[in-house]
Amino acid sequence: MIGIFDSGVGGLSLLNAVQRVYPFEDCIYISDNKYAPFGEKEINFILERCRKHVDFLIEQGASIIIIACNTATTIAINSLRKEFDLPFIGIEPAIKPAITISTSSKIGVIATRATLSSSFYNTTKCKYANNDSVVEIIGEGFVEAVESGIIHSKSFQEHLRKTILFFKRHEVRFVVLGCTHYFFLKDEFERIAGGDMIFIEPTEAIIKRLKAIYGENHISTSKQSKTSIYCSGAGDAVLRILKGQKFRLLQLDY
Ligand code: DGL
Repeated sequence: MIGIFDSGVGGLSLLNAVQRVYPFEDCIYISDNKYAPFGEKEINFILERCRKHVDFLIEQGASIIIIACNTATTIAINSLRKEFDLPFIGIEPAIKPAITISTSSKIGVIATRATLSSSFYNTTKCKYANNDSVVEIIGEGFVEAVESGIIHSKSFQEHLRKTILFFKRHEVRFVVLGCTHYFFLKDEFERIAGGDMIFIEPTEAIIKRLKAIYGENHISTSKQSKTSIYCSGAGDAVLRILKGQKFRLLQLDY
């Protein structure tokens, strides 16, 4: 069983990608939406929530865990790997691929406050880039907008336009989407940028890594695979995003 968690619906696109590769594998997904956004919380709070999620996923039978959240990965993955004896796959802003393919002198990164100030992220940044070549911006209110489904509202569209303008002013062409919630904004970003920018997210890399670690051994041939989604808050956002898909929606009680 594959366990996945995020602060909300951000990781659902990753869940879908996992299910395309492992259609007969049981998946369990946690949307910790009662406590979203993680990116504005204290480090210790995020760490504690992550520990609880890992305990819960193991209890449910997960043998591998995907942390479908840049914020949780950059804050907690090193500790979780020390504390728990199962493989973790994390997701972090794709600085290295962006620098590799970038044709301009600067790349852009949009992520949460917690991710951008984490030592994990800053260590990676220093390894592959220098301070002048990375232009960063916090996606203020972006997680909340994706959770509540207001991304087409006039005021939020204006907010997106200002973000694109910010990158344009810095002559950025490649922008790293450093938060899984922002994957749901990719089409909007592309439309507003009008072909001038490329938005990078690492779903493909994560799936490649999952295949390498998890392999084919766990694939059951039964067609009875189950997808269970646990929410710590209301389930509306999950129901909206996974409309038409088959899954069990359950309440997380911690
Ligand atoms: N999807 C999470 C991430 O990738 C959102 C973090 C948050 O809740 O602030 O960072």
